[in-house]
Amino acid sequence: MTNNPTDLQLKTEKASQKDWLNILDILKEAGLKGYMSGKETYESFYTVKDSSKNQIIGCFAISIKDSIGIVKSFAIKKSLQGKGLGKVIANSLINTAKELNLKTLYASSWEAPRFWIKTNFEEINLNKINNKFFLDYINSLEKDFPDLFKSIKHFVLPIKD
Ligand SMILES: CC(C)(COP(=O)(O)OP(=O)(O)OC[C@H]1O[C@@H](n2cnc3c(N)ncnc32)[C@H](O)[C@@H]1OP(=O)(O)O)[C@@H](O)C(=O)NCCC(=O)NCCS
Repeated sequence: MTNNPTDLQLKTEKASQKDWLNILDILKEAGLKGYMSGKETYESFYTVKDSSKNQIIGCFAISIKDSIGIVKSFAIKKSLQGKGLGKVIANSLINTAKELNLKTLYASSWEAPRFWIKTNFEEINLNKINNKFFLDYINSLEKDFPDLFKSIKHFVLPIKD
């Protein structure tokens, strides 16, 4: 596999049951599995494949309420990290959001806030967030991970028509 993201043909699609173990492997390798509640299922997940090989190279979940989406568990396969793929995939989330008729995408991160800053998402101050769905999510993170929460940053991507 070539490692230049512009040479890869990336295909984002809704995950299916058969992808689940593969997704969990990617999340485990990426160090995100410990942050999952255990209640997640493949149904909120998307896979990103290198379509020439049909191999999953990354994944993310989107939790949706009304027209708001929260991006969670965003991860690139460990052996492919640091090659620009994450940025390409994060910037293509706008296409997934449009397909889902979302108005806004949010994400929160303490693992890699400096990564999100490099994408089309914009950092947003907690006191500027007025969406209850996202605020409830943020509050649940604070409750479950009080130490990590100290370095959390929040990001927003408005989806324009
Ligand atoms: C974070 C992650 C998704 C980034 O994907 P990636 O393909 O490795 O990142 P990219 O190569 O596209 O990097 C894009 C930019 O972000 C920066 N960056 C990437 N990961 C970073 C990190 N962890 N911390 C700080 N900066 C980071 C890169 O230096 C690059 O900067 P540049 O555009 O100035 O060159 C990926 O490394 C990963 O899956 N990490 C483990 C899981 C994780 O932390 N997920 C995020 C949960 S919110």
